[in-house]
Amino acid sequence: MTDTEWDGARYDDAAGFVTDYGDSVVDLLDPRPGERILDLGCGTGHLTATVADAVGSEGDTLGIDASSEMIAEARAAHPDLRFDCVDATAFQADEAFDAVFSNAALHWVNDQDAVAERVAAALAPGGRFVAEMGARGNVASIVAAVRAELRDRGYDAADPWYFPTVGEHATLLERHGFAVRSATVFDRPTDLDGPDGLREWLAVFGDSLFAPLSDDERAAVVAVVEDRLRPERYDPDSETWTADYRRLRFVAVRDESASRQT
Ligand code: BEZ
Repeated sequence: MTDTEWDGARYDDAAGFVTDYGDSVVDLLDPRPGERILDLGCGTGHLTATVADAVGSEGDTLGIDASSEMIAEARAAHPDLRFDCVDATAFQADEAFDAVFSNAALHWVNDQDAVAERVAAALAPGGRFVAEMGARGNVASIVAAVRAELRDRGYDAADPWYFPTVGEHATLLERHGFAVRSATVFDRPTDLDGPDGLREWLAVFGDSLFAPLSDDERAAVVAVVEDRLRPERYDPDSETWTADYRRLRFVAVRDESASRQT
């Protein structure tokens, strides 16, 4: 995972849309009563709770996240549910899951082979892996504006997230014994409310982009990025920024007939 400092309360405040949009990924998961489901990269745990409601008392859910701040927030908000602070590349299931679910988390992980390998190992045969993540080109205008300003200031700008094409990610899943049942990419322009919406988004999500900068220089870069993006991404009438989100959504099944090439 990248070295972002998470603040769960601020995350829920500035990025509540992550959970709101995630409801339709839960629909794609289609959790059924009695199932055991892992929420990988559960953040503040609100979607874990939605899944837990669907599987009911005869089912089971576990939310995992690499951030102890997120897990603390999830436990406080949902004290009846199970959450563990563990990295997606390292977790081990005591008992097989019927499904692994992940919303807006996979793109934070550097070692995608390790995640796919861990998910495959955690699933029962025929178990499903249902996820949404950033696709190639996700938030491209924001990343390009930050990187351009960092380069002008002499910094070697980082490329912190994994935003694959369908082909790249489906191939990776197949390498780890999954049969990909569906994989789609779509644009999802995402509103960031208020004149400070972009600034807040960068404060919550941008740590890894700004890693080498002091607080003062980071603030100066953010101001330049706002100026660069305002003409195309800010509507002064509604006081709304629009981030150019692009999503990759997939359903894959652990396929026992496929040979693993790990
Ligand atoms: C996303 O959910 O697509 C995302 C989140 C943080 C940074 C970049 C992208």
